[in-house]
Amino acid sequence: MANLIVVGSQWGDEGKGKIVDILAHDANVIVRFQGGSNAGHTVVTRKGTYVFHLIPSGILNRGKICILGNGVAIDPGALIEELTILQTQGVKIGKNLVISQRAHLILPYHKVIDHASEQAKGTRRIGTTGKGIGPAYADKMARVGIQMGDLFHPTVFRKKVEDNLVEVNKLLRYVYGVKGYSAKTICREYMAYADQIESFVGDDSLLIHKAIDRGRNILFEGAQGTHLDVDLGTYPYVTSSSACAGGACTGAGVGPTKIDGVLGVTKAYSTRVGSGPFPTELSDTIGGGLQERGNEFGATTGRARRCGWLDAVILRYASRVNGFSSLAVTKLDVLDGAPYLKICMGYRYNGKLYRDMPASLHILTECEPVYEVMQGWAASTSHVSSYKRLPAEAKRYLERIEELAQCPIDMISTGSRRDQTIIIRNPMVQESPRMKGAKAIRSAS
Ligand code: GDP
Ligand code: IMO
Ligand code: MG
Repeated sequence: MANLIVVGSQWGDEGKGKIVDILAHDANVIVRFQGGSNAGHTVVTRKGTYVFHLIPSGILNRGKICILGNGVAIDPGALIEELTILQTQGVKIGKNLVISQRAHLILPYHKVIDHASEQAKGTRRIGTTGKGIGPAYADKMARVGIQMGDLFHPTVFRKKVEDNLVEVNKLLRYVYGVKGYSAKTICREYMAYADQIESFVGDDSLLIHKAIDRGRNILFEGAQGTHLDVDLGTYPYVTSSSACAGGACTGAGVGPTKIDGVLGVTKAYSTRVGSGPFPTELSDTIGGGLQERGNEFGATTGRARRCGWLDAVILRYASRVNGFSSLAVTKLDVLDGAPYLKICMGYRYNGKLYRDMPASLHILTECEPVYEVMQGWAASTSHVSSYKRLPAEAKRYLERIEELAQCPIDMISTGSRRDQTIIIRNPMVQESPRMKGAKAIRSAS
């Protein structure tokens, strides 16, 4: 049994929601540790399609505790809207949801600054989701953020809002030329949210620790992806949180010694939403075909996702910086019927071949991808339930991914439904290296 971190290995939308929903079956606690309602995680069951923005994708599994950790940025209005939608879809949410007191709040001005700053940037814009994520995390780092726990101390909350508005209103009025806010309006809105949210708020870190001590399984659900991580991604075209595996420890208040594995969710091709370098992007009919067959439209903003070939350079980098113990390859079915497939092996720039991820955004933008061409497969994979029944060419493609990422594949997804999943080895149900070590010491003494 294991405590497992699940993260995206590309630019988000790899299918993390589907994979977490499946793995949650063998978990006791599921924790979101970063990001906010910029995320859109889709789970398809026989009962319908569920899109999660803040709530962990494990919530559909009965009897599990779902946590929003301290690293998440929470827009209380968006949270309440999501809870309402899920409840109308028949999802039971009560004591099974715990929200960290330390999570930072997204305030109305964060969303206005997000939009205004994007507009001001013009062609340099990031292409954000407009959910206020960047400004909220900026306030957190600038030590003027307001935390979930503050919501339940009205005078503390009001004072913090008033203090912040002194600078914020100047920024809004004189830099962006938009209306400022009154503390009274914000307080009235947020105090109403406080009443609706209070029963969910608790000590998440303590709860996780107690669960770990009792030998329970914790599943950490990442949002976004490695290359959108604020430290390790294609900066500045990133989100503002730690979307890599390390973010799970800081964003949930758990030490790295408690973690047993890191699963990298990898789409069988590449997609990206918003601006930023994308070396294997296909602006032709092949890219259009991937977009159509993969239904590559954002779950949060509805924007069309840019599509391209699989990129082994960014995958190997993701494997390195996250320490992947295994991969879940998703959307293999989208490649069915393609006569050939390409995998990017390196980038050529100024006569030099880069096999490892360059830190320079300039190289990433200007480079020419160097491809290895593989044969495609004609048969449909969407009903295949075992690895050995996959077409030979699909197996070769997957084996090549394992070689290039230097990491074994544990799961293969061949459709959005739960039953369209090949599990080679369940990463939640394995003997944890941590526990193995503990046993070795015990038996030696
Ligand atoms: P996430 O943000 O990583 O959770 O991914 P999204 O939910 O934003 O995007 C993945 C989309 O692909 C969703 O619409 C899923 O229902 C869908 N999906 C997941 N796995 C597969 C798969 O193996 N094949 C196909 N065709 N669709 C999938
Ligand atoms: P999930 O969890 C894909 C992208 C935005 C933009 C950049 C910054 O569903 O994989 P932000 O609003 O975070 O400041 O935007 O990050 N982005 C995502 N792209 N999937 C996501 O989440 C994303 N969350 C943010 O498009 O380029
Ligand atoms: Mg998504």
